[in-house]
Parts: sequence; structure tokens; C-alpha cells
Amino acid sequence: MGWLKRSAAHTKKETTPTGPLPANAGDMPVEGGLSESAAGVEAVVRTPSPVPILQPNRNESAVLEPILTVSGVERSFQVGGQQLHVLKGIDMELQPNRLVMLRGRSGSGKTTLLNMIGGLDQPNRGEIFFLGHPFHQWNDDKRTQVRRKRIGFIFQSFALMPLLSAWENVELALRMAGVPRSEWKPRVQHCLELVGLSKRMHHRPFELSGGEQQRVAIAKAIAHRPTLLLADEPTAELDSQMGAQVMAVFREIIDTEQVTICMTTHDPTILEVADHVYQMVDGKFITT
Ligand SMILES: Nc1ncnc2c1ncn2[C@@H]1O[C@H](COP(=O)(O)OP(=O)(O)OP(=O)(O)O)[C@@H](O)[C@H]1O
Ligand SMILES: [Mg+2]
Repeated sequence: MGWLKRSAAHTKKETTPTGPLPANAGDMPVEGGLSESAAGVEAVVRTPSPVPILQPNRNESAVLEPILTVSGVERSFQVGGQQLHVLKGIDMELQPNRLVMLRGRSGSGKTTLLNMIGGLDQPNRGEIFFLGHPFHQWNDDKRTQVRRKRIGFIFQSFALMPLLSAWENVELALRMAGVPRSEWKPRVQHCLELVGLSKRMHHRPFELSGGEQQRVAIAKAIAHRPTLLLADEPTAELDSQMGAQVMAVFREIIDTEQVTICMTTHDPTILEVADHVYQMVDGKFITT
């Protein structure tokens, strides 16, 4: 298991998910969720990460290992004395430098799955390897170390600090990721320029449109150079034009920042720009 190049031919699309595994018994405590407080504003703990720094390169002809492999993942919750079986056997892979979307009706389990992928929660059954790290086995501290260095989160409602300017919001993300202060200025400037906000760097969130706020949130999420960006309904609160701008920014950062984006959406026009779409129905993927 590793984060190594393979010599086999390159494929653009992710593999088609296979069928579900047997039903799960037992439940696990929820350690967190894909909430703004959980991932966006974590306390600062500076711990050296054992994660390898090798980054994928989209232009390389050789194939890279998937950055994420999910096999037979099941998740249940205990609600009112009853077992609610939410994820019923999920298999998926995320390849480097891809835009992958999860679609499915409300309640089908999309956010629950993103929480697992981001190491915020753990499955009752099945395996999740992120850059070779067994998230299904690791405790919260170990997952958090990897998450801080390698994963970025974007939320439907932007999750910016309201009293801080765009610049300060992005700077805060670098501080929280433990990036040395000397690197902040050029990196903040680069990220805000990348999302098209060079003229709005010192505006506070209430002085920005929804689309601009979401672009600040993207700059904030990519500032520490994550390998994986998870976005839960990032365009749901935007009109179609602003949503399209956000998707254009996503495409740009996949090419320039070497990141894979996994996002949820209900919007059919947005689904069109995906490299791969996983369709979720009642806790399972179906092939369309
Ligand atoms: N911590 C929890 N405890 C109990 N039930 C939960 C918990 N988290 C999620 N669920 C249940 O799991 C199901 C799937 O929820 P989830 O949030 O993953 O759906 P979703 O596909 O993201 O929906 P939406 O499109 O509305 O965001 C829902 O029925 C929800 O009530
Ligand atoms: Mg959801």
C-alpha cells in the first residue's frame, strides 16, 4: 500500500462501484461531523505529520495510485433504540487530480460518506485508506494529523470568520495548519488571486457576494496545499452564474494545485463538469 506511481495505462474515470457487502451489526459513536465547527475552525496543534509529501502530477503519463480507497463501508446510527442503517456497502476510489461528484436524494447518505472520507467519522464495517493511511483503524488524533495536512473542507454556508477579512481568513487557515509565518503572505496572495479575488482581499465576508464568499472559502481550504478537497453542496446557496464561477475555480485549482475534489451536489448542470459521478440511492451506489 503506498503513494507510488504505477506503470499501467492511465484512466481518467474512477472505477465503477461494485455491489454492497452484507448488512452491518453494531454501532460506533459519532466523533464529529462535516460541520463548520468540526473541520473549519479546529484548535491549533502543531504535530509533525508522517504523511509523505509526494504530490501527484496530472501531466505524467504514468498512472498514480488512488489517493483514496473505500471498500465495503457501512455506517449505522442508533436512533431512538433503533438501528438506522445509512451506508450499506460503499466501494469507491478517488484518483489524483479529479473532480468527483456524489449525487443522491436528501437523506441518501452523502454527507455521512464525506465525513468518513475526511476522517471525521469512522465506519462500522469496511476499510478506508487515504494516501495509504487506514482511517478505519486509526484513532481520532492520528486521523486529525493527516486531515490537517492533507484535506480541505468547503461547506454550503461558506464557514468564514465574519470579523476577519478575506486575507485574514486565509491566513488563519495557514496558521491552523502549522505553516510557518514566513510563507503566509505569498501563499495567501496566490490563493486569493487563484480564486479571482485579487481586488477583494481586504473585504470582510459581509462586504462580499455569496459567490465571492464561497471563493474565499475555497482559497482558505486550499491554502495549506491539501491533496483532497471535500465540498458538501458548495453551490447550493448560489445562483447558477455564481455556481458556475465556483466550478470554474474548482477546475483551475485541480490543474494548478494538484488536488482532487470530491463534492456533493443536486444540480444537474454542475454534474456535467464532473470527471466521475457516483450516484447514491439509499446508502448504496448505483450505476447509471
Ligand atoms: N449522527 C447521526 N445520528 C443519527 N442519524 C444520522 C446521523 N447522521 C446522519 N444521520 C441520518 O443518516 C441519513 C443520511 O444523512 P446524510 O446527512 O448523510 O444525508 P445526505 O445525503 O447528505 O442528505 P442531504 O442531501 O439532505 O444533505 C439521514 O436519514 C440522517 O437522519
Ligand atoms: Mg448532506
